[in-house]
Amino acid sequence: MRSGPIFRAGSSARKGQDDRQMPNIVVVGGQWGDEGKGKIVDLLADRFDIVARWQGGPNAGHTVRIDGKAFFLHQVPAGLLRERVMGVLGNGMVIDPAGLLQEIADLESAGFHIRGRLLVSNRAQVILPVHRLMDTASEEAGGETAIGTTRRGIGPAYASKAARLGLRVVDMQDEETIAARVRIFLGSGVAAHLRESGRLVPDPAEIAADYARLGREMRDFVAETSLWINERMDAGASVLFEGAQGTLLDVDLGTYPFVTSSNAVAAGLGAGVGVGPTRIDGATGVFKAYSTRVGRGPFPTELKGATGDLIRERGREYGTTTGRPRRCGWFDGLAARYSATVNALDSAALTLFDVLDVFDEIPLCVAYRWRGMEMTEFPAEPWVLDEAEPVYERLPGWRTDTSEARRLSDLPGNARRYIDRIASLLGCEVGLISVGPERVQTILGPGKFFHDYLGAGALAAG
Ligand code: IMP
Repeated sequence: MRSGPIFRAGSSARKGQDDRQMPNIVVVGGQWGDEGKGKIVDLLADRFDIVARWQGGPNAGHTVRIDGKAFFLHQVPAGLLRERVMGVLGNGMVIDPAGLLQEIADLESAGFHIRGRLLVSNRAQVILPVHRLMDTASEEAGGETAIGTTRRGIGPAYASKAARLGLRVVDMQDEETIAARVRIFLGSGVAAHLRESGRLVPDPAEIAADYARLGREMRDFVAETSLWINERMDAGASVLFEGAQGTLLDVDLGTYPFVTSSNAVAAGLGAGVGVGPTRIDGATGVFKAYSTRVGRGPFPTELKGATGDLIRERGREYGTTTGRPRRCGWFDGLAARYSATVNALDSAALTLFDVLDVFDEIPLCVAYRWRGMEMTEFPAEPWVLDEAEPVYERLPGWRTDTSEARRLSDLPGNARRYIDRIASLLGCEVGLISVGPERVQTILGPGKFFHDYLGAGALAAG
């Protein structure tokens, strides 16, 4: 029997709240993902009522370290590790139901209470096993089409959505609807393609039975989140919008085609959660003090030799989702400024700063040279990005362990000069510096943003 429609969650499960009205802000990745957004979101989340994700799915990998223990999150927002916060998985996401239920179970057994605090949008898209199969097949075919994806089915799931062939979370309530949607999807040429490549065509009835069961298990989490979140904001709740991946992986603004299939930029949250732009009060971007990238695609400041290896080892630069070694390179001021501009950043958080403690000299990319031409704007042409040679400004290193620093004044002069130069390249303040994975290994920068949003006394100032 078909059930009635899913409306807003009955109760917001909102905690004892003071009269404080906090604005709504967004945290985005400023580079190619893996910037350490998990830690920054975790620090900020305590001051917010709701943490909402708007794009991506299990391709994300956020690591949060609490008292020496590491927690890995893929679909659950990193901000949910703060017990007083409600979490939302927005309609712009692609959800892997089995993976999500497993992640929730793992967090619950680690002592976190997730049930009753996490809402999944009824309008979010669902990743099917056949999406994962298509993702893997296209990666294994190699050649031009290989992107170096996480093989979680992200691209095919978003492609199905855009082609109006997708399955949504709301559809999972009804086995007949699931079977019908899967049949339409397979009939759109997917089944023929699978047959041609010698692969088994999945049975829609089997998928329907499986996903209807997952739908029942997920039922308590599913809600009309867009209306709910707007209603909560009307009532004075503050929302932290948590980005996944990074600006340069954005499907519209990133290094296309070597991107993910969603809008990782701040503006994506409007459509991905159902919140209008007038609701957003501030934006911060998270940047590593250097650069990394996983998968294929242009990376002008990449270091292929021993220096890159040293950064990788010091920064433990291996993927949280796939374990792949990340490509490492120097900070790219052009890419970063582009990112600060298209996200209209108020502030930047600089992470993994201590990784640079060992270098005599730290090159900062301030321009590209391409066939004799020097450019200071991040280009869209893939062939220019492929051939561009970075023009470096060489700043003196500090060769001092900064992992114990807790305030700006604890940092050596050369470290502060490096931070200031990055701020001038970005065109916005550097408001926070992270010198290690633990919550305490954080320094408040000279700017206003993090002072305002973390609250006085959250971290040592000045
Ligand atoms: P997909 O998102 O799995 O389709 O992968 C597309 C591209 O985005 C690949 O280069 C991936 O390595 C990259 N990517 C996806 N998610 C993340 C992430 O969370 N961090 C870093 N790179 C990512």
